[in-house]
Formats: sequence, structure tokens, C-alpha cells
Amino acid sequence: MRMARAAATAPIDVPANMTAPMAVDPCAAPTPPTSAMRPEGAEQRDPRSKSRHLDVCLTEPVDYAKSAGFDAWDFVNDAMSEVSLEHVDLSTTLAGRSMRAPLMIAPMTGGTPEGLALNRRLAAAAQHFGLAMGVGSQRVALERPELANYFHVRDLAPDIPLFANFGAGQLARGWGAAEARRAVAMIGADAIHIHFNAVQEAIQGGDRDFRAIAARLTALCRSLEGDGIPVFAREVGFGMSGDAARRLRACGVAGVDCAGAGGTSWAKVEAFCAVTPQRRALGLTFGEWGTPTARCIVDIRRVLPDVEIIATGGLRSGVDLAKAIALGADVGAMARPMLQRAHEGEAALHAFIESVLAELRVCLFGAGATNLVALRGRLMPAGSGPV
Ligand SMILES: Cc1cc2nc3c(=O)[nH]c(=O)nc-3n(C[C@H](O)[C@H](O)[C@H](O)COP(=O)(O)O)c2cc1C
Repeated sequence: MRMARAAATAPIDVPANMTAPMAVDPCAAPTPPTSAMRPEGAEQRDPRSKSRHLDVCLTEPVDYAKSAGFDAWDFVNDAMSEVSLEHVDLSTTLAGRSMRAPLMIAPMTGGTPEGLALNRRLAAAAQHFGLAMGVGSQRVALERPELANYFHVRDLAPDIPLFANFGAGQLARGWGAAEARRAVAMIGADAIHIHFNAVQEAIQGGDRDFRAIAARLTALCRSLEGDGIPVFAREVGFGMSGDAARRLRACGVAGVDCAGAGGTSWAKVEAFCAVTPQRRALGLTFGEWGTPTARCIVDIRRVLPDVEIIATGGLRSGVDLAKAIALGADVGAMARPMLQRAHEGEAALHAFIESVLAELRVCLFGAGATNLVALRGRLMPAGSGPV
């Protein structure tokens, strides 16, 4: 049986004017959609489905059994490191904005009071440490604009690279530049993530027809280029091959998030959320589907030497983050580890991020790299194999 979720996270500062004026209960059954807000033929997204995802991700064993692939690599230790630990430079940029460290809080939530509270805690931490952050799919608030306030974090994080988000399923069904502009304006974002999640949708019984996607993504990228809004394509955790990334780049995306296998399995999450035994079985069958994150990074970097790569999926420490960078990612991102700590409270979240950044710093120090560029390639296959 599912564990009861903690009644509430530790108190989170949510300005009164963000909740008080909302006359709607975001967990109530959805109001009838208007066709202007809803892609052709689509069911409107029920905000409660996002709450179920949060619940399951906080209480159920939804990790892949297989590894994200970082354990297949070791850093080459530099026995004569000429680096000062205090002076290693972790700074970088993403989507044209600077960051103090190459770590992103991956898109997860928003659209409900609970999602807002978690996002605001995450955003405040991102601002404090100089990280990037994405909000979860804004589909609910694009369909029901009265929920837009439940995505607001910019006031707490004025300086971070902030990413808007909606799904390729909506794009394939008819959404485009107008919805993307609304999503970006809703949160004051610097860029937008379009998430690709075919296998998750198949298990959910959601969007199952992506035939129009390349043409629609191309039109979106062209249109937003004029506004200076970079479009990033991301998987949600099943991985992205070099070939898929090349085709996405040909559509005009500015960057990709390979979001590979080895961390949170979205097939397992959907199995726990399933309302029928058939869907649960389907989710469990595909629980290990996907390409490990380390492999995705290497494949994508090989075919796209210059594109910005975010690596999500199974990063659980600063050492994993360092390996993702050394393999070719520009920024590493974490979802469930951030969610768990944010749910515990601000102190737990800050302690976790501090430990990740401390581990990353030691990797640079031990590998003899003064900055992230110098860290590239300082790896060898793990194990003692033949020399
Ligand atoms: C509770 C939760 C909700 C998520 N919702 C979204 C979403 O709305 N949009 C999206 O692009 N990815 C979403 N993700 C996927 C994550 O961004 C990430 O790609 C995935 O969980 C793998 O990272 P991890 O192993 O660090 O958890 C969500 C993840 C979690 C844990």
C-alpha cells in the first residue's frame, strides 16, 4: 500500500497575494475547457495528475534498477594537480545567462498550491547557489489561466536561467508559438523546454500521435527565434540518441536535455499512478526501457559538438555531475533528489546542494582541472582492465 505523504512540507514562504485571490480549488475537477486553450481532440490536463506524480515520486520505489552509466567511468587522478581547491571555477552559462555552477533543478512541478510551494523553495535555492531551474509542464495553466499564479517563482530568483515547459504532445496536436510565448511570459522565463515522452504517454494513455512533430517544432523554433527565446528539446527520462538530437537540432532547437535512464523511471511512476491493472502492467513491463544518461551524453556530443547539452537522469552526486560534464554535457540537472530534499525542508535542500557542489569541486581539484572546460575528457573506463 502507498505510504501516506507527509501532510505538508516544512513551512514555505508563499506571498499571500499568490494564493488568496484564487477562487478555484486547483485540485477540484476541471472546468469545461474552451477550445481556444485546448489542442484539437485533447482531454484537458487534470492538475491532480501532477499531484499524483509528486506523491508517487516521494513514496514509491521508482528508480531504474539499471545504472545511468556514470559508474562505467573513473576520473584520471592527477598526482601533481597544480590547482587550488578554493579557486576552481565552476561558473558557466546556459541559454545566454550566467550560472555560478553547472547544476540545474530539473522541471517537475507547478500548477497546484503544493507544486507552487515546492517550486518556490527550489527557486530560492537556485538563486542562492546561482543554479538554473525549470518549472514542470505548464499545460494546466495554459488551459486554465486562473492557475498561472501557481507557477510564479521569478520574484525569488531574478538572476537564474529559468525554463518554461510544455509537452511535444501538445505541440503535435496544434499548440505553437502563441502558447509558448504565454508559457514564457507566465513565469518570466529565459527559454522553453519542450518535453518529449512518447513511452510515458503510451503508458498513461495520453498523446499517441507525434507524426506532425518535426514540422511543428521547426515552425515553433523559427517563430521564437525572432523573440530571442531559445527552445530546448528534452526527454523526461528515457534518453535521447545522437541521431534524435541531430534531428531535433535540424528543427532549430538551441539545446537539448538528454534526460536518460538510470534515475527516475517514468514507466514505473506511471505504473504506480495507473488506474487499471492493464496500464500498471504496461508500466512495469517498460520499467527499464531507455538509454542510460552517460551513453546519451557521449552520443549527442559526438554528433553535435557545439550545441548546449543539459544532462538529466540518475545524477545523484557531485561526482555524477562532474562525470556528466567530463563526458560532454554543459550542465547537469537533478529532479527527484531535489524534490526529496525540498520536501524535507530548506535546510535539507541547501545541505544537499552544498554537498553536490563540494564533491564537484573536489573532482576538478583531483583531476587537475581549474575550470569546467579543462575537466572535459579527464576520464578512463572504470575498473582495472588491461593496461
Ligand atoms: C515529480 C516529478 C515531476 C516531473 N514533471 C516533469 C514535467 O512536468 N516536465 C518535464 O519535462 N519533466 C518532468 N519530470 C522529469 C524530470 O525533469 C527528469 O527528467 C526525470 O525525473 C529524471 O531525472 P532524475 O533521475 O534526477 O529524477 C518530472 C520529474 C519528477 C520527479
